[in-house]
Amino acid sequence: LRPTHRLLSCSGTVAADVKREEQSSRNVETGSEDRTPKKKFSEVQKERREQAQRTVLIHCPNKISEKKFLKYLSQHGPINSHFFYESFGLYAVVEFSQKESVTSLQNVTRTPSMETEAAIPFKSRFFNLKMKNPSSQTSEQSCIQSSNHSPPSNKKLSELLCYAESMDDQLNTLLKEFQLTEEDIKLRYLTCSLIEDLAAAYFQDCTVRPFGSSVNSFGKLGCDLDMFLDLDEIGKLNTNKTSGNFLMEFQVKNVPSERIATQKILSVIGECLDHFGPGCVGVQKILNARCPLVRFSHQASGFQCDLTTNNRIALKSSELLYIYGTLDSRVRALVFSIRCWARAHSLTSSIPGSWITNFSLTMMVIFFLQRRSPPILPTLDYLKTLADAEDKCIIEGHNCTFIHDLNRIKPSGNTETLESLLKEFFEYFGNFAFNKNSINIRQGREQNKPESSPLHIQNPFETSLNISKNVNQSQLQKFVDLARESAWILSQEDKDRPSPSSNQPWGLATLLQPSVLSSVSLAKKKRKKPASERIKNLLESIKSSSPENDTHTNGK
Ligand code: GTP
Ligand code: MG
Repeated sequence: LRPTHRLLSCSGTVAADVKREEQSSRNVETGSEDRTPKKKFSEVQKERREQAQRTVLIHCPNKISEKKFLKYLSQHGPINSHFFYESFGLYAVVEFSQKESVTSLQNVTRTPSMETEAAIPFKSRFFNLKMKNPSSQTSEQSCIQSSNHSPPSNKKLSELLCYAESMDDQLNTLLKEFQLTEEDIKLRYLTCSLIEDLAAAYFQDCTVRPFGSSVNSFGKLGCDLDMFLDLDEIGKLNTNKTSGNFLMEFQVKNVPSERIATQKILSVIGECLDHFGPGCVGVQKILNARCPLVRFSHQASGFQCDLTTNNRIALKSSELLYIYGTLDSRVRALVFSIRCWARAHSLTSSIPGSWITNFSLTMMVIFFLQRRSPPILPTLDYLKTLADAEDKCIIEGHNCTFIHDLNRIKPSGNTETLESLLKEFFEYFGNFAFNKNSINIRQGREQNKPESSPLHIQNPFETSLNISKNVNQSQLQKFVDLARESAWILSQEDKDRPSPSSNQPWGLATLLQPSVLSSVSLAKKKRKKPASERIKNLLESIKSSSPENDTHTNGK
């Protein structure tokens, strides 16, 4: 149900962010990271949230004059930025400079009168723009120029990768094509903000925050929108400021457990979205899951949304991943390529099941980068040692403390190329002792598996949990086989690489073709023992010479 977003036109502060993006990347000549100050996760969230509160979503007639549209809206105050996109109709996202402009616009907006149906009045920031006299306006319309803004097709990606100059260039190209755009990020924060308005009808002062891949720096165009209904701020204001001998508390309803409270809250919010939420369709209440949630489609933005509450640890995981993704520009390029590789070979799926999730894959890449020599990423324990009093955070008895200021984390001295890291990743996990070892990003080294699940990746905060408990042996074996075959293909290609201008798939493009790896498997099967022995020997020799077998503790 995910419609293609077609971005039509935009203006505003995009350039500044694009510049920041470029500045934070690796200097090609020196191989070192640029030292532009990086924003804290909480700063980004605060800024984006505040921006979303000044923003409105407008369903527009298909043919509209952009100039007249902006002039009309400017009556309510100056506009900071705007863009149009198509998703079952034409939509505009308009960010005003001041929040008051939104109220002013709401004050001149009416509830539609229907002939056969009845409208439930709701004063939201999601509007429908109508032409007063459509026929008189048609002649002077200037249509909005359309530019496609969805992820590239497999064909287009393959072409882009074929023409890349190096494998590093290929990985960076894939990242550039798939990463969330400025407009997509704005739309995600706006959607959360619109849902917050609805939830506020029940819980005044609540906050709806995006988490997961929408904010953790690993979001791919089209990924779902994970939302967290945060009720912690309610009633927290002024608690320390009260003076005198008394303490006031709100009268509240008590329920037997936190889980039941969560289920009750999500149940009413689910009903509310279903009955009164403009643009919210297909609402499903999944309240018996380990982490209860309400799933729905936000039709106007095209996002598949998962709303949870009492899920603060997931927000912390998002912040941790944001830090890892922002520390070194190679991290995101590698994660995006490996996620794409996994998707191309059906190792991951949008349907829940016994396969590896994107979240687990990201943890595996982080762990691998912690195991390089010298390490590219620090361990979570090290990030904890850098924390100061402000960073201290205990959630439900779990210590979630780590440093928040990225600028205080020393950059890695490791200068390996993305090409080499991709190969080493496949070799590393093609030979990993999954039967006895657990992956642990807190300590940055293998641990003995505490239980018998085929794949064990320790939850970094709830350390007794395994985030990949769902993965069965056959899915793990498929991952290992594909990793080995990919390592083998890359080692063969070294010897015989087609020139980039030959239009032949090579490097990453070859790895993303499902047929190539299955033909390797077929060839292996046909040649039976000798070929598999050859691959095994090759991998063994690579393994014995690879530095990640050394035990190192990140120099802490
Ligand atoms: P995509 O949606 O696949 O792009 O990635 P995602 O990171 O958003 O994953 P998902 O939507 O499945 O989950 C959202 C967030 O919930 C993740 O980023 C994690 O913070 C958290 N999460 C997901 N799966 C698990 C899990 O198995 N255990 C724990 N502790 N947290 C999880
Ligand atoms: Mg997600």
